[in-house]
Amino acid sequence: MQDPLENAIDRIEILSRISDSKKYLVRTFLSPSNLLAAKEICGWMKDLGMQVSHSADGTVRGILEGSDPKAKPLLLGSHIDTVIDAGKYDGPLGVVSALAALETLKQENVILPFPVHVLAFSDEEGVRFQTTYLGSRTITGPLDSTTLAMRDAAGITIAAAIEDHGWDEGATNIRYAKGQCRGYVELHIEQGRILEEADEACCVVSAIAGQSRLNIKLNGRTDHAGTTPMPMRRDALTGAAECILAAEALARSSPPLVITVGKIQIHPGASNSVPQSATFTVDLRHPEDPARQQALGKLRESFSEIANKRSLRFDWESIQENNAISCDRELTNLLLDSLAATTGSQRVLTSGAGHDGVAVSKICPIAMLFIRCREGLSHHPNEYASPEDIATGISVITHFLKSLKP
Ligand code: GLV
Ligand code: MN
Ligand code: MN
Repeated sequence: MQDPLENAIDRIEILSRISDSKKYLVRTFLSPSNLLAAKEICGWMKDLGMQVSHSADGTVRGILEGSDPKAKPLLLGSHIDTVIDAGKYDGPLGVVSALAALETLKQENVILPFPVHVLAFSDEEGVRFQTTYLGSRTITGPLDSTTLAMRDAAGITIAAAIEDHGWDEGATNIRYAKGQCRGYVELHIEQGRILEEADEACCVVSAIAGQSRLNIKLNGRTDHAGTTPMPMRRDALTGAAECILAAEALARSSPPLVITVGKIQIHPGASNSVPQSATFTVDLRHPEDPARQQALGKLRESFSEIANKRSLRFDWESIQENNAISCDRELTNLLLDSLAATTGSQRVLTSGAGHDGVAVSKICPIAMLFIRCREGLSHHPNEYASPEDIATGISVITHFLKSLKP
């Protein structure tokens, strides 16, 4: 059997070549490459002797039985979808390092007293439908009808994407009832710079910040670019520009609030026509839910004022609201003990990024381990975690698995 660390690193490289674009890495929910990656992972799970299944939404599960098949399973894993022009580690590292930890145990002839289920979720980023955690949400129960009716840029609903472009053949529902599992543990790159600055390889996560996602539409009037005097215009794009700067000013004046406008579309989109409509996304996050709600209120008020002043119609659509989630104290302390035993560090951070654990926390306790990444870069093609740090992360997870009592 090849060295588990080498396997993990090779697999990161293999997955990084499975993309919907020839120019950069992108693998969104149920795209051809999303399913190809899922199938590749099934093969690795089978090589490890796992019982492998998948759901129509493209989420994959490998089960490694322990000595007591009746014991509650422990879930490990992460997501295999990516953002656009993504790095290789965000998501896939959690899946390949879970497999590497199990391979290490196998080499050491260790049989755990409980089953381990490794999950590779088909969506966490929420790029295609703007709504996040589609893969991890489905293991906690069926998606609700409002979610299923959401559409991508091509007008395809989530329901149709799963029905028409899902992975039907041999699909089963991968679902867990509340209380059925002993926990979910995810290894992920930090996506920030604190570990690099502290010169530490890994840390444990205490909580995941809350997140709101919105779609804002401003509607004005399209007009001739050469003949319409400036005071007579109802330009939706300049209105959107003012709103975006107001959002930035609000976030800058209220740390640790962060607000991002990551996508904007205008109509009709011609250099000699005044823009009639502008639609943009807002991603707003804060570790404390009341502060996030307060910021949402302020933002809405300021967008509304800007729209009124410019005679624009203004639509505010809430796409998703995720409250902040605390990691489980008991699991986190055990993970912290394993971190201390492996590295001597006892560092704990909160996560500004969203993670599948937010969705999975509906059914079981969660804990997370972060790995240092170079310059804190993430959602960027130069995202990088060193083999040494990945090896440390795999050792912490392996130690943690061995430390769990039956
Ligand atoms: C996922 O990476 C997110 O935090 O948006
Ligand atoms: Mn991400
Ligand atoms: Mn991620």
